[in-house]
Amino acid sequence: MNSIKQSFNLEGKVAIITGSSKGIGKSIAQGLAEQGAKVVISSRSQDAVDEVAREFQGAGLKAIGIACHVGKADQRKTLVQKTIEHYGGVDILVNNAAINPVFGPIEDADESIFDKIMDINVKAPWMLSNLILESMQQRGGGSIINIASVEALHPGAGLGLYSTSKAALLMLTKNQAKEWGQHGIRANVVCPGLIKTKFSAALWQNEKLLNKIEKTLPTARMGMPDEMAGIVCLLSSKAGAYMTGGVYNADGGYMIAG
Ligand SMILES: NC(=O)c1ccc[n+]([C@@H]2O[C@H](COP(=O)([O-])OP(=O)(O)OC[C@H]3O[C@@H](n4cnc5c(N)ncnc54)[C@H](OP(=O)(O)O)[C@@H]3O)[C@@H](O)[C@H]2O)c1
Repeated sequence: MNSIKQSFNLEGKVAIITGSSKGIGKSIAQGLAEQGAKVVISSRSQDAVDEVAREFQGAGLKAIGIACHVGKADQRKTLVQKTIEHYGGVDILVNNAAINPVFGPIEDADESIFDKIMDINVKAPWMLSNLILESMQQRGGGSIINIASVEALHPGAGLGLYSTSKAALLMLTKNQAKEWGQHGIRANVVCPGLIKTKFSAALWQNEKLLNKIEKTLPTARMGMPDEMAGIVCLLSSKAGAYMTGGVYNADGGYMIAG
């Protein structure tokens, strides 16, 4: 009898998680490492990723920190090269880093803001995935998890360009799943709802707004970063071997609210 419990084990797997010095990315990295994976903590600051790697190592987890601004081609290349040098390859890529520099009507945003959002939220996951393709092929497969948002599926308020970028990421993922399935590579999207991190502080620090949002949710509360890790562990592991091209909400019921 095959052990189902064992199919969640990530022992021997190597995972890169972008934007993992804090928030959702850090929780995902912790979850993957606790399942046995060797993780690469990454964000723009070497100091920040070193600190998280040290914290993980102190807890008996396997982690290294490699700084990478995902919008910079040379740094994306270095991230993949250094990971392969250190760990021998890549099995799991979590494209988690993203930005949302503006709130407001779509017509008010500057063209340069549009370019910046698309660069970080869409182009970077596309190019980073392309860079790890060869290693995943050599290892007989892999799992790509792209962190989108419920904004990819349902327009919120004042988040038009961010929403558009996350919808593009969703379709990128489906194409990765379709084109790279032949190499044993799976690609899936996770769409978080409102999660308590620095990224969403403008929403949850406004008590009136937070109450209004939480009232509409079946769970009646916002989510916490560590509640995003379980779904990524599943999608990364053999337990999720039949899941590809999927879009999975972890949103407290936001998509069925109202
Ligand atoms: N929080 C929510 O409510 C929510 C909801 C839906 C979706 N999401 C998605 O969840 C993901 C993570 O968000 P979060 O809430 O965890 O954000 P967060 O707490 O602000 O953390 C963002 C992380 O990304 C890093 N980062 C920022 N810009 C980067 C860049 N250009 N290159 C590399 N790393 C970069 C940050 O570190 P440095 O500053 O050191 O680079 C940090 O580690 C994003 O894709 C976001 O769109 C969040």
